[in-house]
Amino acid sequence: MLARTKAGLAACRATLRPPVVLVPTMGALHDGHRALLRRARQISGRNGSLVVSVFVNPLQFGAGEDLDRYPRTLPDDIAICAQEGVDVVFAPAHEQIYPVEQMITVSPGPLGEVLEGAFRPGFLDGVLTVVLKLFNLVKPDVAVFGEKDAQQLAVVRRMVTDLNLPVTIDSVPIVRDPDGLAISSRNRYLSSSERDTALALSRALQAGVAAAGDGPMAVLAAARAELSAASKAEPPLATDYLALADPERFTVIETGHTGAALLLVAATVGKTRLIDNMPLSLRSHSGPES
Ligand code: PAJ
Repeated sequence: MLARTKAGLAACRATLRPPVVLVPTMGALHDGHRALLRRARQISGRNGSLVVSVFVNPLQFGAGEDLDRYPRTLPDDIAICAQEGVDVVFAPAHEQIYPVEQMITVSPGPLGEVLEGAFRPGFLDGVLTVVLKLFNLVKPDVAVFGEKDAQQLAVVRRMVTDLNLPVTIDSVPIVRDPDGLAISSRNRYLSSSERDTALALSRALQAGVAAAGDGPMAVLAAARAELSAASKAEPPLATDYLALADPERFTVIETGHTGAALLLVAATVGKTRLIDNMPLSLRSHSGPES
């Protein structure tokens, strides 16, 4: 079923058997999204229901970002959803979600001030606001997000906890192309030479993970070496940030931390901004930094 309006969605929703599992997307669906759809079907079981939302949310794009050129491929998205056994595709027009000026928004608090929040002011507020609207419209029992957007996942989880939302959040590891590049709707902007340069993101993360036994500074140094080599490539990579962060609070880790951490990177090649991350476990060690 395809719903283009809130009323249409409500009519579809009334026919769905629980549990209802929602996968929120901005469309241009790819193998990363497919992994979320498959996880969602696992959770819903054959008797439950799968809803996918397709909505390019203007509230999460800053001035000068790629809202206008963001790929919009609804017929292809609907075909992929049909292949994956999705019960309802909710693809609303802008006026359905933002009929009047949005005065009230959801603030991510301190989680929204670092990393993606610092480089894209208002981005995470825009995400939380639309995700809350989608939860209120679809009323899912479970919603599935990708670990590719790790900070987005962390703020959504925190919104659910802090605002007592009646939904369970589930997540899926990053899906990569065979060359290591994390799959993204934005990868289709890359020329082949830009794509070669972009491979430095996953290479840097891998180098960092391999150094995890030597502590946080060694992780950052190993990753930074790859990024700095790529900054001299043609076309060059311009890094926004490389950071180790606490996986839940997103506070930045520097020295003396042990246990679970996320190594995160954001960088631009040509006009395309890419993000990636890998989890790692920092062991205590007897090096000079500890
Ligand atoms: P979008 O970029 O379309 O991503 C939709 C979901 O797919 C997100 O949860 C994202 O983390 C996940 N995803 C994308 N690429 C992935 C990959 N390679 N591996 C695993 N998961 C991947 O994220 C958004 O849309 C929006 O911000 C949204 C949550 C829909 C709010 O507008």
